[in-house]
Amino acid sequence: MADSPAATNTHHGHSADVTKRDLLQLITGAGAAILGGAIAWPLIDSMNPAKDVLALSSIDVDLAPIAVGQGITVMWQGKPIFVRHRSAEEAKEADAVPLSQLNDPQADKARVKPGHPEWIVVIGICTHLGCIPLGNKTTDMRGEWGGWFCPCHGSQYDTSGRIRKGPAPTNLPVPPYAFESNTKIKIG
Ligand code: FES
Repeated sequence: MADSPAATNTHHGHSADVTKRDLLQLITGAGAAILGGAIAWPLIDSMNPAKDVLALSSIDVDLAPIAVGQGITVMWQGKPIFVRHRSAEEAKEADAVPLSQLNDPQADKARVKPGHPEWIVVIGICTHLGCIPLGNKTTDMRGEWGGWFCPCHGSQYDTSGRIRKGPAPTNLPVPPYAFESNTKIKIG
């Protein structure tokens, strides 16, 4: 009587009951969007999916509508990715920062693609405790270095996404991406 199955809390049972077949149908039906799901991704990861399923984990981003000074956020593998169109001066300034001034020393050149210094692409998750920094909108607070500002505990990133002040220990990571043309990148 004490261990009646009815006593089990079925509240969380739903996601655990998703079978491999159901999940694959979901993936096929819903395309890349499902890859962003907090539940779907670890499951897919552990299933060693076929190459065509993996291919869905990359996204194309059209850069043409992003004006100088503006940034946009796109979702890739469940993470916000910041794509920022820097001005020529911002790019030059970022490139000129001596590594000795950086907490997590990394040259700007190592964070942008050759021939495209005006585009910076970073994973938009603060490396302190995971908040989403502000700064993509021109009206957002961007901090003293003009990049991104994390309102949670005041971390400030420069226009290269490098940590300049505050508790965040490391730079915003650069995701894998490539230019497909001058106005299009593929992330992933
Ligand atoms: S999470 Fe960004 S400063 Fe703490």
